[in-house]
Amino acid sequence: MKKILFNTPLQKKEYSNNVKKLLDSRKSLHGPGQNIFKIKKELKKIFGFNHVHLTNSCTSAMEICALMVNLKKNEEVLMPSYNYNTTASSFVRTGCKVRFCDIDKKNLMPTFQQIKNNVNKNTKVIIIIHMQGLPIDYLGKLKKYCKLKKIILIEDAAPALGSYVKDKPVGSFGDFACFSFHETKNYQSGIGGLLVVNNKKFRKKSNLVFDKGTDRTLVVSDPNYHKKYYSWVDIGSCFRLPELNASFLQPQIKDINKVIKYRSYIYKRYVKNFQEWLNDEFSICNKITHKYKYNYHAFTIILKKNEREKFLKYLKKNNIIAFISFEALHLSKVGKTLINKKTNLKNTEEIIRKIVRLPMHNELKIKEVDYISGKIKKYFKK
Ligand SMILES: Cc1ncc(COP(=O)(O)O)c(C=O)c1O
Repeated sequence: MKKILFNTPLQKKEYSNNVKKLLDSRKSLHGPGQNIFKIKKELKKIFGFNHVHLTNSCTSAMEICALMVNLKKNEEVLMPSYNYNTTASSFVRTGCKVRFCDIDKKNLMPTFQQIKNNVNKNTKVIIIIHMQGLPIDYLGKLKKYCKLKKIILIEDAAPALGSYVKDKPVGSFGDFACFSFHETKNYQSGIGGLLVVNNKKFRKKSNLVFDKGTDRTLVVSDPNYHKKYYSWVDIGSCFRLPELNASFLQPQIKDINKVIKYRSYIYKRYVKNFQEWLNDEFSICNKITHKYKYNYHAFTIILKKNEREKFLKYLKKNNIIAFISFEALHLSKVGKTLINKKTNLKNTEEIIRKIVRLPMHNELKIKEVDYISGKIKKYFKK
């Protein structure tokens, strides 16, 4: 069997043809142009996202949030330690405090109680992570809680576009939601991201921060705006997704359901192959229940024993490239400087060395899934 990659970025001739079309037209590669406008229109139609910015990464989308809320030195942002580092660094660089909370060992996300246990009078922002695209299942409750406590809720939905809780799309619960179009995600523009601004109070400010801290967007697009020339009016940066990258992404939007359908086929085959003996050696962490519509971004297992390195080495020897997901932020070089002696994240510390993500992408073949499953069964000598 030839090497089975962990991920193969989504690619189709049609997508590169659209890039060529833009290049041949000699229109602006910077944008915004027809591709950006089309993506925004389609996202509104499919997911009901009314106010969005296409950014050059999910990190940029989170940095815009941090600049917008502009917390003071003693104010806190709460997030799980089992998380991507830039979710934390976006806030740390603005000078506020980060507090890490623990996770549930079954689905790798904090429970509602774990979140509430860490809220105090300084908590101004809560960031929840839809782990590998699977939604947090108490979003409605959390939204009400945040409203009551006057806390801003941010959904870090990096890989979660296309997932739903009941009928409501991920990204429509928080004051803000941040998505990624990095090439490891279901839909991609090399690097890329999306900021959804649901809280109407922040919409104007988001336009300024997004566009280098200038009022350019308003000067260009709002005929009633009082100024003729744009100028520096706020603190922002260059967060924009270039039209060039958007031209690769734009034709993928209509394929969202097709992409998810194929991934669900792969996911369900893994589940079927492992069904009889799952609980003995490992469990599936992103389990689907009737509450969700999952975008099948990942297939993640949690080993029962502490043997991940041996397991990954065995897979590699058999030409299978699997991946570990994140490290815990509070154990990282920078993260250690953000915690105190009382920080107790025992579930996170127990589980992180047991998590393995198996290959999952749109070019993976069923016979490869069967090969991977067979090798894993052999490893456990079943
Ligand atoms: C949960 C989470 N947040 C943020 C990011 C950062 O995304 P990007 O690479 O688009 O900045 C990632 C990347 O994988 C992620 O998984």
